[in-house]
Amino acid sequence: MRLDKFLADMGEGSRSQVKEAIRKGRVLLNGKIIKNPEEKVKDTDEVLMDQRKITYTSMEYFMLYKPAGILSASKDRMAPTVLDLITEKKRKDLFPVGRLDKDTEGLLLITNDGMLAHKLLSPHNHVPKIYFVRVNGMITDEIKQQFQTGIVMDKGEIALPANIKLLSCKEAESEAELTIYEGKFHQVKRMFAAVGLMVLYLKRLSMGSLILDESLGKGGFRPLSRREIEELKG
Ligand code: URA
Repeated sequence: MRLDKFLADMGEGSRSQVKEAIRKGRVLLNGKIIKNPEEKVKDTDEVLMDQRKITYTSMEYFMLYKPAGILSASKDRMAPTVLDLITEKKRKDLFPVGRLDKDTEGLLLITNDGMLAHKLLSPHNHVPKIYFVRVNGMITDEIKQQFQTGIVMDKGEIALPANIKLLSCKEAESEAELTIYEGKFHQVKRMFAAVGLMVLYLKRLSMGSLILDESLGKGGFRPLSRREIEELKG
């Protein structure tokens, strides 16, 4: 890999900024000043920039406790996005795996591992996602049954069978854990709308084997453990 790409990938600046740093002699490769941005770097080489050792990370994996009010996009000119919250990231090619609505909270995986993202998001894989949901009415046995059979949502789109674990049920409000096996646009809200209920609060608790670490607090993030990554990859 070229030295300028190595440094840019590791967040040391834009391509032109790192080229400038290299030309100014701020970068050492195996103890020698290198002024050619195209110099090739191998895995075993030691790279120093301004006397700091730069280690190459090809894949990064973060768990984010998404707060409400933040967009799940990678970049937005006007509003902050989930990626702005990951202040420790090295790589610029990170993206959120799937989207949560702006007002939805909870688990979001942020990575640059496209293969893993594909595995988790592919509709063929039926990866379970568990949501905590509060709605504005009673979740009756009939509704539970309808969810278990498969719901016809707006525009005739069909949601695959889903499981509801009821946590509380009152005339004005019910709370439940809902497990769905796909990720259609606004799916949970549309499923409840199809049975005449409105989602008041929505939080994702898990995605496949990955469980939200509540100790992070809203807006908190951490790298995944090696075990969490291995379990997700399966
Ligand atoms: N379903 C929704 O309706 N919204 C989300 O953010 C996630 C799932």
